[in-house]
Amino acid sequence: MLRQTLLGMSRNDQLRQIIEQAPVSRDVVKRFVAGDQTPDAVRVAGELVETRRRVTIDYLGEDTLDPEQAAATTDAYLQLLGALAEAGLTVDGTVEVSLKLSALGQALGRDGHRIALYHARSICQTAANVGTTVTVDMEDHTTTDLTLATVRELRQDWPWVGVALQSYLYRTEEDCRDLAHEGSRVRLCKGAYKEPESVAFQDAGDVDRAYVRCLKVLLQGQGYPMVATHDPRLIEITSVLAAKAQRSPDSFELQMLLGIRPDEQLRLAGSGAQMRVYLPYGQDWYGYLVRRMAERPANLSFFLRGLATR
Ligand code: FDA
Repeated sequence: MLRQTLLGMSRNDQLRQIIEQAPVSRDVVKRFVAGDQTPDAVRVAGELVETRRRVTIDYLGEDTLDPEQAAATTDAYLQLLGALAEAGLTVDGTVEVSLKLSALGQALGRDGHRIALYHARSICQTAANVGTTVTVDMEDHTTTDLTLATVRELRQDWPWVGVALQSYLYRTEEDCRDLAHEGSRVRLCKGAYKEPESVAFQDAGDVDRAYVRCLKVLLQGQGYPMVATHDPRLIEITSVLAAKAQRSPDSFELQMLLGIRPDEQLRLAGSGAQMRVYLPYGQDWYGYLVRRMAERPANLSFFLRGLATR
């Protein structure tokens, strides 16, 4: 019921205009989305870097069924990388980019894989030219195999290409084993999509326990784990497991979303941990926030809680 209402909201243009233009929405959205334009993303990234946080930037737009839109999204990334380099923010991967293959055309029928790979390659080449990295987000489970195949192809030229894995999928512990090799950057998150019981744990406790099993595999492996969670228990467990695996602070990083637990981000960065903030920007923020909430109603309380915390 809530899901249908939210999905309806995301497609209602009149409502979209009212919400987009209301001053209160802009204030709320500013908390979670850096702005509409490239300079907004560069400015907010620069502010985060000044407070010892690293950044990964996501240009909003997903599920593209239009080849021109996929090309425009790619251009936006190329422009962004140029602007970040000009601002001196790409050195040593301080600010990198995150991308969704569905925004680059993965869903464009039989040619989708080839088109998304082509666009992702040009983004990776530009990232390499300016000295930074790229991480590929993970979307719903129907795309997991294709996304991992694309990452494998990209890694042949750019071994530093990172990929997100979701602990709620039964398969992920095995994927972690496959990807825990030297130089392999893996972002571990719980997973944000509504998935069926046939492929994913439904119980939050099971998702958390799977997260810890995956963490163990990644931290004991030879790769570079990127621990993406706001969950205080999992962050505590990460520090215990990292010490046990004799990991130095620069051999893994913690990641959180823009606007969620900002004080904790600062505390962790100040304690010597590597902290990276996932920063979305772009005009498609309305669809992004409302669809995230519709996919998983728990996301609604997730964003509402984010407003209540410092
Ligand atoms: P969860 O939402 O279960 O919350 C656990 C606990 O954390 C809470 O009980 C509370 O203590 C604390 N907490 C959580 N939210 C809070 C808030 N708003 N304010 C205060 N405390 C809060 N997903 C995906 O499917 N594919 C992807 O590629 C990515 N990429 C990604 C990158 C990064 C950097 C992050 C942080 C997350 C993602 N995600 C993702 C989203 C991820 O899968 C997940 O949906 C959210 O991070 C929420 O899960 P948590 O692990 O934060 O815990």
